[in-house]
Amino acid sequence: MSADKFIEEKYGLRDNPFLDQIAKEAWLTTWVNRQEQLAKWQNVISNLKKPRKNYIVLIIGDYGEGKTQSLFKVVSEAKQNLEIYPTFFTFKGEQKVKAPGLEFMFRIFKSIDFKKLAKDHGKELEAAIEAIPGDLDEVKTILRKCCFAEPDLQNKALYFLKGEINPNKTDLKQMGIIRKIDDIDIAKEYLAGILKVLKGLGFQTLLLAVDEVEYLFSLVPKPQQAIYVALLRGLYDFPVGMMKDTGEIARVAIFLAVSSDGYRGLTEMEKSEHAIGGPTRPLFDRIDVQTNLGVLTKEDAKELITKRLHYDRVAGRYTHQPLIPFDQTFIVFIWEITKGNPRDIIDKCSHVLDAGIEMGISQLNRSTAEKLLRDRREL
Ligand SMILES: Nc1ncnc2c1ncn2[C@@H]1O[C@H](COP(=O)(O)OP(=O)(O)OP(=O)(O)O)[C@@H](O)[C@H]1O
Ligand SMILES: [Mg+2]
Repeated sequence: MSADKFIEEKYGLRDNPFLDQIAKEAWLTTWVNRQEQLAKWQNVISNLKKPRKNYIVLIIGDYGEGKTQSLFKVVSEAKQNLEIYPTFFTFKGEQKVKAPGLEFMFRIFKSIDFKKLAKDHGKELEAAIEAIPGDLDEVKTILRKCCFAEPDLQNKALYFLKGEINPNKTDLKQMGIIRKIDDIDIAKEYLAGILKVLKGLGFQTLLLAVDEVEYLFSLVPKPQQAIYVALLRGLYDFPVGMMKDTGEIARVAIFLAVSSDGYRGLTEMEKSEHAIGGPTRPLFDRIDVQTNLGVLTKEDAKELITKRLHYDRVAGRYTHQPLIPFDQTFIVFIWEITKGNPRDIIDKCSHVLDAGIEMGISQLNRSTAEKLLRDRREL
């Protein structure tokens, strides 16, 4: 019998709970509290319910330390507050960037589910769109169509707002506008309109959880990287500097997950700007909270392993019996060989579990785990 089949029949689990080494929303069920960091994030989140300012929070971590999972945690904490509209996006998978900066704005627009807003808020949304000031009339026209036009036109307007089509004159005319979103200032008008609408619906803050920020920088040549830094700084100051009247709008909170290397790159960029000035220092000055993930403590590692071994994903609840019983020497061993890196812990446990089940091991401890990993050349 295959290991998967065995796990399924014996424990009612679909698969090895350690197979998945990439963060998923579903893995929040086995979230291990990073007390210190979580407290800082929660503190920001509670400020977002009655915001007086925009926020930038940095989450820095090495490979596999849990940056993505932490952003999911932030989003799920934020979701518990009706005053916050949280979104998540990443740039991984993007091949190249056509218009640096603009791309980022389109990502923000993409992350907002207008069809769902229309479904959930109906008339209230209609009123919120009508309340967009006249200075932003094109935005008003497009948002109306994004939410309430007949399906073909609605989709066209949505594609346009997300930067997915390049409209010709006829398209623009059909949508009732003159300008394309082809520069950052126009995109900012759209952001202002969207924030106005969110505010009208009772959302005080748009929370952007942005993953793989370093990847964004790697997509463009060095001189263009400053564009992103300047954009982030501009978003923090938003809507200051806009020539148009925005009225009262929702605030923006940006949680940026960046690798330790990416962060180092940013600090180097800052140093190189020392003599000539540049956008990086001002961006650093605007960071409200910075959290470094680091590795898990022995206690946290134990919690992670225990939770994953006990969690029945099919039933969606914890079971009393772990997949294979284990003792403290097993935990300490895994922690030592992984140095507490969450991804590595999960990876090593995955191998041990597969082999352990195959061999019919009834108890995991230091020596059984060590042997299993050696046999698999994982040690
Ligand atoms: N606090 C945590 N509690 C429980 N599991 C965690 C925690 N942090 C990370 N993990 C798990 O560790 C694994 C790696 O986490 P994640 O994918 O978030 O790392 P990452 O820093 O984003 O990695 P990468 O550098 O490759 O993007 C995932 O399986 C995730 O579920
Ligand atoms: Mg990640």
